[in-house]
Amino acid sequence: MHLPAPTLLLCALLAPLAVQAEPQVPDAERQAELETLLYQDCGSCHGMTLRGGLGPALPQSRMNHYTVEALSHLILHGIPGTAMPGWKALISEEDARWLADHLQNDTPLESLNGQD
Ligand code: HEC
Repeated sequence: MHLPAPTLLLCALLAPLAVQAEPQVPDAERQAELETLLYQDCGSCHGMTLRGGLGPALPQSRMNHYTVEALSHLILHGIPGTAMPGWKALISEEDARWLADHLQNDTPLESLNGQD
């Protein structure tokens, strides 16, 4: 495995991937890790409750403008020319898909105008 400039965080996140055959859906433990990633790592730019910061807010209403494929692609590859990084060194395609589904259906922020 090629690790450019490995950090403790990178190793901690990659370790479970290395020992696991990639399942279609991340197991419960991985889902918990991905949730932590979403609110802490993604949250460092998008806000801990995804209300926005350096990066824009990520309400479900907005996330549902994307297909789940487009959203997972965006998460894996980032948005070139912006501060939005790609995450494919840290997460698998299944992980990205799970995050996309989570962003569309299961985050605390439903919309920016009303019930969140
Ligand atoms: C270093 C800061 C940073 C981090 C960390 C980050 N993002 Fe972003 N993200 C951005 C910025 C800035 C944009 C807006 C880019 C633009 O101008 O289009 C963005 C855009 C997005 C968009 C598109 C928003 C829209 O309204 O269309 C999604 C979805 C997204 N990020 C998800 C994530 C997820 C999921 C993670 C964690 C796996 C993450 N981001 C981590 C900075 C970040």
